[in-house]
Amino acid sequence: MKEQLLELEKKALSDLKAINDATELEQFRVAYLGKKGLITSVMKRLGELPPDERPEFGKLANQVKANLSRLLEDVREDLLSRAAGQKSFLDVTLPGRIPAYGHLHPLTLVINEVCRILSRMGFKVVKGPNVELDYYNFEALNIPRDHPARDMQDTFYISDNVVLRTHTSPIQIRVMETQKPPVSIIAPGKVYRRDSDVSHTPMFHQVEGLLVDRHVTFGDLKGTLTGFLNEMFGRETRLRFRPSFFPFTEPSAEVDIRCVICGGKGCRTCSNTGWLEILGSGMVDPAVYGFVDYDAEVYSGFAFGMGIERLAMLKYGIDDIQLFYRNGMRFLRQF
Ligand code: PHE
Repeated sequence: MKEQLLELEKKALSDLKAINDATELEQFRVAYLGKKGLITSVMKRLGELPPDERPEFGKLANQVKANLSRLLEDVREDLLSRAAGQKSFLDVTLPGRIPAYGHLHPLTLVINEVCRILSRMGFKVVKGPNVELDYYNFEALNIPRDHPARDMQDTFYISDNVVLRTHTSPIQIRVMETQKPPVSIIAPGKVYRRDSDVSHTPMFHQVEGLLVDRHVTFGDLKGTLTGFLNEMFGRETRLRFRPSFFPFTEPSAEVDIRCVICGGKGCRTCSNTGWLEILGSGMVDPAVYGFVDYDAEVYSGFAFGMGIERLAMLKYGIDDIQLFYRNGMRFLRQF
């Protein structure tokens, strides 16, 4: 076996001399020194020797291996310096550079999913302006001059009667102004409020919904939103309709879902209530129909508005809203 090893070494040394490039060098390395290489397989047969011959053979084998490894590195360096001396050296053995592909932002993914689910239920997607008249943002939504929502604290004013819209609800008015019932629309978009902390950013996203027709009831509102939320968060997720108030809906309800973080036991995210508020809704207030010339005796309808950041945080288990806007690559890559 010893002779075999020395024979192998001789052959390896002559092979090594014949090497011309990196590919051949790698082939050599694999053939002799690789996990299944010739040297390695001879070394594996150590156990076939009588015990008293093993130490000597082991030592010799290690020497051969070390020697060949050293010579191999010498050849490698030699090849490299020769290559560096040549003008246009292209190392075709280097792995290719794969360009990073972009993809949709998590908020866009959630907006798309909301629109996909509601479109299938028959809602048509429409848009409205971000810079909005006071009339559409407040007045026609039955929000009187002295309502707290108009306070300078919450609203960005462009001028006396022009604002950055504080919600997507003005789109309800723009649609009803130009279309007679039946209407069923959803309107995704950016909204603006003077607010900034872990759960607020001065710009965020909402999706508005509006459906008006003859004989629309609160049952339709509940059925529509329940169907939507079941698809968005899974049928197991419990929902709660809680009485609330909005100037442009009556009656109004906010919808909570069972806290996705603690499952209802109570935690920091849900302030120990076990529930998380995700949208506002209600039956369109007859006062609003007055502004758009709909007959409140004939038509009824419901509206809803949901915060997209909130939905995205719950869906993906994110606890800091600012992450959506810092756009760190490590954050974005996860979606
Ligand atoms: N516009 C309301 C808000 O931003 C949400 C809402 C929309 C409530 C439609 C009722 C109906 O809080």
